[in-house]
Amino acid sequence: MKTKLTGLALATMMAIAPSAQAGEVEVLHWWTSGGEAKSVDFLKQQLAGSGVDWVDFAVAGGGGESAMTVLKSRAISGNPPTAAQIKGPDIQDWGELGFLSSIDDVAKANNWDEILPEVVSDVMKYKGEYVAAPVNVHRVNWLWANPEVFRKAGATIPTTWDDFMVQAKKVQDAGYIALAHGGQAWQDATIFEAVVLGVGGADYYNKAFVQTDMDALNSATTKEVFETFGKLRQFIDINSPGRDWNLATSMVIKGEAGMQIMGDWAKGEFKVAGMNAGTDYVCVAAPGTSGAYTFNVDSFAFFNQSDAENTKAQKVMAKEILSNDFQRVFNLNKGSIPARLGMARTEFDSCAHDSMDAFVSSSATGGLVPSFAHGMAVSGAISGAISDSATQFFNSDDTADQGVAQLVAAIAAAK
Ligand code: BGC
Repeated sequence: MKTKLTGLALATMMAIAPSAQAGEVEVLHWWTSGGEAKSVDFLKQQLAGSGVDWVDFAVAGGGGESAMTVLKSRAISGNPPTAAQIKGPDIQDWGELGFLSSIDDVAKANNWDEILPEVVSDVMKYKGEYVAAPVNVHRVNWLWANPEVFRKAGATIPTTWDDFMVQAKKVQDAGYIALAHGGQAWQDATIFEAVVLGVGGADYYNKAFVQTDMDALNSATTKEVFETFGKLRQFIDINSPGRDWNLATSMVIKGEAGMQIMGDWAKGEFKVAGMNAGTDYVCVAAPGTSGAYTFNVDSFAFFNQSDAENTKAQKVMAKEILSNDFQRVFNLNKGSIPARLGMARTEFDSCAHDSMDAFVSSSATGGLVPSFAHGMAVSGAISGAISDSATQFFNSDDTADQGVAQLVAAIAAAK
């Protein structure tokens, strides 16, 4: 005798069956701008192709501060997602707390030690085992410019901070906003980081902002950094407070502003707007930083799961992330370069080529430094102290001396 299934029962079974077989991944991220969403969509699609369901856990907010706050409360209540966008030293902290699950078998089977640069793979491991998978390498020290605005203003794109002040003034005098900026702490810190690197160089950057050496921090160089940083206040518009970074990028896209200092996720926005690198927009290293590279690696860390199917799905996701195809398409959309070594360069644009070349050359000269504004260099407490100090200074008329004193006190308290 044939069993008769009602339409509803059949539909329910069909809806449940695939996910019950392949598992699902709930993924926390903060990729909500046009370019970011397009990038993460590709991961969703690839996983769907492998039968893994995606439960989106997006927490808006550039730089990821809100996402990290939400992640902490979910984890504390015993309900962490399957994977979360966690970066740099934070991965160690989550490992230390016992939340992360090893994906070392996937890494071994797919030769991650050989296909990743050491500066990246080291960060992905906790106690020698992979617990996270890197999706990309972002360069943070970039200046984005609208060449048409520069042409109309009779200005040239600056490569030193001294020249920046001269050219920005010309752009401003021609009736444009010189520097598109969003007044949020992490964006203030992103510009501050570019000034630190451009004014002080990589050795100073490392000593003062990675090792947090108090003598290096309390120095004439730091005073010079704050002097330069303070001069930028005059070049942003009065509507900048609270503005999202991608809206600042769109001011450059639309020709309302001349420049933005931002990591190369900005390129994802230019791309979505149909603009081409080198002609419609220009990327140059942030002033004074052409031989250096502040790196920011996005990665997904994997949380312990009680459901065996979801653990399997987690491993499918880990494997997918390091696949050639994913690294290529994701990074073409995201503006970053692949974390995976030895990828073909041809489809990437001139900004990506610059980034690839600078990554290699700066790692040979000591100019490759971790981004403190993007959680790659120091603990959360110290990076919070730095960005609070940068914001406090940038949004006041404090003198450079006050800026130094405040920064030194904040870092000393956070240590
Ligand atoms: C992340 C990028 C992201 C940017 C803006 C950075 O910290 O590394 O992936 O696009 O924040 O949200």
